[in-house]
Amino acid sequence: MKLKTLASVALRGRRVFIRCDLNVPLDAAGRITDDTRIRASLGCIRHALGEGARVMVASHLGRPHEGALTAGESLAPVARRLGELLGMPVPLVCDWLDGGFELTEGRVVLLENCRANVGEKANALALAARMAKLCDVYVNDAFGTAHRAEATTEALARMAPEACAGPLMASELEALGRALADPARPMAAIVGGAKVSTKLSILNALAARVELLVVGGGMANTFLLADGKAVGRSLCEPDMVAAAREVMATLAARGARLFVPVDVITATERSAAAVTRICGVDAIAPDEMIFDYGPESMRLLLGELAACKTVLWNGPLGVFEIEAFAGGTRALAQAIAGSAAFSIAGGGDTVAAINAFGVADRMGYVSTAGGAFLEFLEGRTLPAVRALQERA
Ligand code: 3PG
Repeated sequence: MKLKTLASVALRGRRVFIRCDLNVPLDAAGRITDDTRIRASLGCIRHALGEGARVMVASHLGRPHEGALTAGESLAPVARRLGELLGMPVPLVCDWLDGGFELTEGRVVLLENCRANVGEKANALALAARMAKLCDVYVNDAFGTAHRAEATTEALARMAPEACAGPLMASELEALGRALADPARPMAAIVGGAKVSTKLSILNALAARVELLVVGGGMANTFLLADGKAVGRSLCEPDMVAAAREVMATLAARGARLFVPVDVITATERSAAAVTRICGVDAIAPDEMIFDYGPESMRLLLGELAACKTVLWNGPLGVFEIEAFAGGTRALAQAIAGSAAFSIAGGGDTVAAINAFGVADRMGYVSTAGGAFLEFLEGRTLPAVRALQERA
């Protein structure tokens, strides 16, 4: 993939507009609960600062209504955290579209939530034209938002005087591209999450590609249903049973395998105080819900993964935020971290689990992206990447 890289662009004294993905999770009090994306963006920002650029960083946070930013959607907590990590003040600039704010060599400002600008989501050319006037160089380092064709990710890449990919964008594309282009086999994919319906296209794409497809989380219940099991009151989608069977058929036609649990952890309520039970998947009571893989399932799964040379992981196996239901996801995270296979993990929940279990530095590659990670693995061309390629 041909992209112009940041390292090849002269930056001294120039106005550099860096689109990052600083869309971090916040708690009810507005505190950042995971700053992975901010830390992952530091390499690009530090490079530009070190080269003497006059730096503007832009990002979205959440999904605000255009023209109506609320206090909870402000990047103010991100500006503070970025300042702490960079060791310099990072002023937050509101109403920045017409410029008029100060830029200094070797200094950075953060532009308030770009999704508050009218026309951002529609990828409006008029909006991108105003932003293009603010900069000499546009850098897209926001791989996590590369599946969105928005004004700061797509149109601006085409209209800025000069455009290039940042180092995070480049390393994400390199790592994920490697997993897709010529993976060491056997290759396994673990896909968790609540619903088959939201991940059907990635399930279909992976079923055509991997030797072992492991389903976890709520979506595993739909596959159990498709296999004729009663799942009690568990989260499941009866109307997706046919789609699940198609995924199973695609795998079977290629001689590839689907892995579903043979035993699970159940309870009658989703709470830390719940009374739990290890239960075979043929013996789930009508009032029970499945919240995690059981020990026998984990034994079988880890045995199968031990033979794999490439492992893709998106989505936890159970409700890992509650300790009683964290065993499956923890054991999986530890097994992947300890394995010699090339592993790639991505998605907000998955990264949170990896961080919670302290294995981030032992994974092959941890993507900062959720939706973009899945769309890339599906083999789709991401619009923001296409725009950069066209400028290269
Ligand atoms: C993400 O969190 O996946 C990215 O920041 C994109 O956010 P979005 O789904 O709101 O476009």
